[in-house]
Amino acid sequence: MPGIHIKNISKTYIDGAGNPVDAIKEINLDIKDGEFVSIVGPSGCGKSTLLEIVAGLQKQTAGEVYIDDKKVTGPSRDIGVVFQDAALFPWKTIKKNILYGMEISKAPKEEQEEKLKSYLELMNLTGFADKYPSQLSGGMRQRAGIARTLIMNPKVTLMDEPFSAVDHLTRCTLQEELVRIHEKEKKTVLFVTHDINEAVFLSDRVILLSPRPSVIQNEYVIKTKHPRSRSDDYLVHVAAKIVADISRGAENVESEYMI
Ligand SMILES: Nc1ncnc2c1ncn2[C@@H]1O[C@H](COP(=O)(O)OP(=O)(O)OP(=O)(O)O)[C@@H](O)[C@H]1O
Ligand SMILES: [Mg+2]
Repeated sequence: MPGIHIKNISKTYIDGAGNPVDAIKEINLDIKDGEFVSIVGPSGCGKSTLLEIVAGLQKQTAGEVYIDDKKVTGPSRDIGVVFQDAALFPWKTIKKNILYGMEISKAPKEEQEEKLKSYLELMNLTGFADKYPSQLSGGMRQRAGIARTLIMNPKVTLMDEPFSAVDHLTRCTLQEELVRIHEKEKKTVLFVTHDINEAVFLSDRVILLSPRPSVIQNEYVIKTKHPRSRSDDYLVHVAAKIVADISRGAENVESEYMI
């Protein structure tokens, strides 16, 4: 089946003293093809762990992840990842950074140029191809990082707090750009954030993880059409409900969708 399928995923780390740390516990989650799903939850609950397991960057203790019908066994071209810090190569231009994956996969030069042009446009970076990362603002660098991932046309895009290192206004703009791209391309996105308003503004569905050992505490389906208003009554209500549920903690794990 198309989409991301997380089946009974658990992860136990061993800490520095040799003691087991149960991060996430028997998580089951099916993300539909084209769906935008955010994961929220208290700090240290295992959001990044789950995302890294889906990315094939971290080995789970138990369970399986499938992208479409293919089992995830390690990083792959089907899975694009964007982290908090765009992690561009400082010695390469924006163009060379964005084309990095295409060069490695030896894509024809013509295709590279064509795609570069369209992704520079998509990310509002036209005119900056020959600049170096240090010559760009934090928001622009993050957009270049996103372009570098999307240009590879991954089946799914995984993002771990991609906007947390930029200022508030830039963050709002990046959110709007991400919505625009998602509306256009309808690619599956799994997005981790601390910011409940961000999750509600962007997503078709928000998953709340409980404190460790993390299970899915609740899910919120958000059907409001894009473009959304940040002051929309329903979105404000859902965000308040999520915040209240986080403070109630794990003892109140819901068995059914609340919204
Ligand atoms: N390599 C590791 N070794 C031991 N414990 C780890 C390791 N990585 C993560 N942990 C622990 O697993 C738990 C989950 O960590 P994780 O980074 O996934 O949480 P998170 O929800 O992403 O947190 P944050 O919101 O702060 O980013 C934490 O208690 C963390 O200390
Ligand atoms: Mg994290």
